[in-house]
Amino acid sequence: MTREPHHVLPPYRIKVVEPIAFLDAHERRAAITEAGYNPFNLRADQITIDMLSDSGTGATSAAQEAAAALGDETYAGARSWYRFDEVARELTGYPHILPVHQGRAAERVLFSTLLRPGQICLSNTHFDTTHANVQLAGAEPRDLPCREAMDLDSAYPFKGNIDLDALERTLAGPERERVGLVLITITNNGLGAQPVSMANLEAVSRICRHYRVPFFLDAARFAENAWLVGEREPGFADRTPREIAQQAFQYADGCLISLKKDGLSAVGGLIGLRDDSLHAACEANLIATEGFSTYGGLPGHDLERLAQGMREVTDPQYLRSRAVSTARFAQMINDAGVDTVQPAGIHALYLNAGRLLPHLQPGQFPGHALGCQLYLDGGIRCAELGSLYLGTLDENHQVVTPAPFELVRLAIPRRVYTDTHLAYVAEVLAGIAKNPERVSGYRIVSAPPLLRHFKVRLEPIG
Ligand code: F0G
Repeated sequence: MTREPHHVLPPYRIKVVEPIAFLDAHERRAAITEAGYNPFNLRADQITIDMLSDSGTGATSAAQEAAAALGDETYAGARSWYRFDEVARELTGYPHILPVHQGRAAERVLFSTLLRPGQICLSNTHFDTTHANVQLAGAEPRDLPCREAMDLDSAYPFKGNIDLDALERTLAGPERERVGLVLITITNNGLGAQPVSMANLEAVSRICRHYRVPFFLDAARFAENAWLVGEREPGFADRTPREIAQQAFQYADGCLISLKKDGLSAVGGLIGLRDDSLHAACEANLIATEGFSTYGGLPGHDLERLAQGMREVTDPQYLRSRAVSTARFAQMINDAGVDTVQPAGIHALYLNAGRLLPHLQPGQFPGHALGCQLYLDGGIRCAELGSLYLGTLDENHQVVTPAPFELVRLAIPRRVYTDTHLAYVAEVLAGIAKNPERVSGYRIVSAPPLLRHFKVRLEPIG
């Protein structure tokens, strides 16, 4: 196939823009000090490039905004709901769709309906709210990532896969009766934005059917996973991302989707289900806690944006341009001497802060230190995925068990930043990489007992 020169271009141009802030070094130091050196406490008008999350942070299209004008706010049975429902059923193939205001609401409704206290939920990797909602249902979240995922430098194309041997061993063993759900996250956000192969999903489906365990997808990035399958898995090069996503949904009994990512909207989510009685039970739960089952907490205008977003997101030209842009960004960073989890995914890059800052021990939070330095040097906000977030600490906030890796996630909002913005981030990182010893470690001043990373306050050491 001959490629046109335009094949990597984003299939859109920019019509509406908003200002970003440029603080000087002194103002940035004051802002992050005031924030207790916790980027979650920064204000948007103190940030130049915001890479904290790709969730709800994307730009909408003119077609989405036009659709939003048709938003129907009828309490029950709104026209907007029927449009949303039709697109969601066509995409997922599930006969039952329940709308929710975001992914974690879907988690709570499904887990509190399906899981019993003492049960186990097996996953390639639970996202943090998913982990918390399994626990809130009284069940145990257990991650079984494939072995290749533990080698950050490995170029293995599907490091998001679940370890099939470990899955089968658990289901064939004495814990079989306790396993209430198998949940596969596509792409694997907790482990480097790595995709899950269709072969892995098919095998999980077969194993779950054999042992009669429900199999669900946490499909927040269903389109990006489909794109990477088309690029990397033999036999899928000629299939459209939409067909690949549809096939992924087919393997499972249902799905949870945070539509704040591949729904290309600021808010929204859904639960997709095959089983009639599970649907009835989840629907009752939803009505009591989220809203009637034709809106689930969402205004009609957002149901319209979401319906259009779910159509747009599988456009191959859009997905290709985003994947190419992320890969280029990774290359710039790697060329500057900073390692990222390989191979590059799409929605985020994960910097290997532990390797860049070997003079900092896990207890001095190297990932957090790199994140703070990116803000201090360039007004860039990002999230630590290391011992501050995942380590075990004692009552004096000292690290007892460090996280397996000290990473920093640079999340890339959809259709928001140009390659010039990304080149700027790479340049700031290159400046840090030239003289990494000047990056100081941090100590915790105060931390809440739960969900530490959101509210922790720190100070630099020395
Ligand atoms: N599942 C995955 C894989 C996610 O990445 C997220 C959110 C959720 C579920 C929860 O969805 O935010 O709509 O309630 N991830 C965001 C992030 C917050 O930055 O990665 P939500």
